[in-house]
Amino acid sequence: MVIIIMRVLGIETSCDETGIAIYDQKKGLLANQLYSQVKLHADYGGVVPELASRDHIRKTVPLIQAALSEARLNGLELEIDGVAYTAGPGLVSTLMVGATIGRALAYAWGVPAIAVNHMEGHLLSPMLEMNPPEFPFLALLVSGAHTQLIAATGIGKYQLLGESIDDAAGEAFDKTAKLLGLDYPGGPMLSRIAQNGMPGRYTFPRPMTDRPGLSFSFSGLKTFAANIIRTGPDNYQMRADVARAFEEAIVETLIIKCQRALDLTGFQRLVMAGGVSTNQLLRMNMSKMMQQRGGEAFYARPDFCTDNGAMIAYAGMLRLQGGSQTSLMISVYPRWPIEELPAIIT
Ligand code: KG4
Ligand code: ZN
Repeated sequence: MVIIIMRVLGIETSCDETGIAIYDQKKGLLANQLYSQVKLHADYGGVVPELASRDHIRKTVPLIQAALSEARLNGLELEIDGVAYTAGPGLVSTLMVGATIGRALAYAWGVPAIAVNHMEGHLLSPMLEMNPPEFPFLALLVSGAHTQLIAATGIGKYQLLGESIDDAAGEAFDKTAKLLGLDYPGGPMLSRIAQNGMPGRYTFPRPMTDRPGLSFSFSGLKTFAANIIRTGPDNYQMRADVARAFEEAIVETLIIKCQRALDLTGFQRLVMAGGVSTNQLLRMNMSKMMQQRGGEAFYARPDFCTDNGAMIAYAGMLRLQGGSQTSLMISVYPRWPIEELPAIIT
């Protein structure tokens, strides 16, 4: 039986962003709504799960309503063929909000629902753009909770080649930013002040590049930064210099490991996704490296790199079209390794 799923509502509530989108197979993205809780958590220096889930409860239904009217404004008779919601990995209490609302809506509308893996959403996000990557490709997923290198040969055909054994790249950015007195999430701010840093003032290590393998370890960089901050002069220039050296170290380490993974797989395409992939230095140097190899790098626009509903609607559409759907029993998976996803046979 051929299942025709044209238009999917996507719901993302895995952490501190409520993202709602409607994706249409023919017309592309019809609506994209996002509410960020960054201000809510700023005073705590990180995401407070209880506050996050309460806020998702407040925002999800009004944002769905807003997305439906945004899509209707384009002059469409709106019918939704399926509902996709993030079911993991993420915070259990926030995942439950999107999963409950999404599953219940699909039941009420009499359409199928699909539980989407957040990391697969990130991995497929560059496919929302004009020049989508074709399989096979190497994926570097760099977010607040994950740093993973994946050999992707099809939808659901993901082989984990390496990941962080401690802090994720985004986590390292956020923790070092905190040491520099910057607000959560500090990644973008750290990157901004790094532009005023003096090159060569400090040199951070490139962790785990002195031995073979594709694992990452970023927690030592934060300790390295802490030692400089404790002993150095306490002024803006020192902070900018530390930020610059830290950013250069993370970027170079990620690129060295990508080169190794490309050598190993023989792939010519690289996809980079997740919040850290918005980093300008990382994009610039990664593109340069891929160009030098005669390959091609693919990134989504910044709004689709950080958490959003569009990637969930899109991944959900592909999975629904592949014949998967989720039963009426609502389950969420705070840990849900991307390699465990079933492949879609096309
Ligand atoms: O993918 P994402 O929005 O959420 C998770 O699924 O974790 O990623 C958020 C992470 C945060 O750690 C944030 O500091 C980092 O991405 N980030 C950046 C930049 N923009 C966001 N890190 C470095 N440079 C940036 N420009
Ligand atoms: Zn994410």
